[in-house]
Amino acid sequence: MARTGALPNRIRIELGDITRLTVDAIVNAANASLLGGGGVDGAIHRAAGPELLAECRGVGGCPPGEARLTRGYRLPAGHVIHTVGPIWRGGDAGEPDILARCYRSCLAIAREQGFQTIAVPAIATGVYGFPRDRAARIAVAEVAAYLAQNEIPAIVIFVCFDEANRDAYNAALGRGN
Ligand code: APR
Repeated sequence: MARTGALPNRIRIELGDITRLTVDAIVNAANASLLGGGGVDGAIHRAAGPELLAECRGVGGCPPGEARLTRGYRLPAGHVIHTVGPIWRGGDAGEPDILARCYRSCLAIAREQGFQTIAVPAIATGVYGFPRDRAARIAVAEVAAYLAQNEIPAIVIFVCFDEANRDAYNAALGRGN
């Protein structure tokens, strides 16, 4: 459980669809091509419209663990921070470190851009198969550590698409369900 004593209201957990949030940026759990896919990637591209794919084509991809910024187009969010999580292969192929770097990369872009509020899905826990409880612990630990050292972003919202993920984040934060 991460120490978030000084950060209780800067880290939030919400159940819902990340494409509907009016925040400075939402994070997309993309693949290395950045050319769309299923899961949250597909939902974000559907909601943002074709201009998002057009901009992504010009980005030239993104290695696992890194992140790239685009505009949000038809999304209520102003921007999308695309990151590429690790494909789970049992945990001994560097997956935990790559996932941790995803969060750090997204937070660094938010800080550089002066984004006050960002929303983040449970990166790599769907198609990529990363165990959700372990992923939630990594996500909370990285975000708590970053916010303890940085004022911006002011708020990070973990957006959970189902109750199992919400429970995993509450457990990682030491909060009751
Ligand atoms: N809002 C919030 N969270 C969502 C949404 C949504 N609209 N849709 C899905 N999710 C959740 C999933 O339930 C899961 O917890 O996002 C988390 C990440 O799952 P995936 O979207 O499958 O992403 P990931 O596991 O990182 O796999 C990435 O899947 O969609 C493709 O193009 C993508 O190849 C890439 C791979």
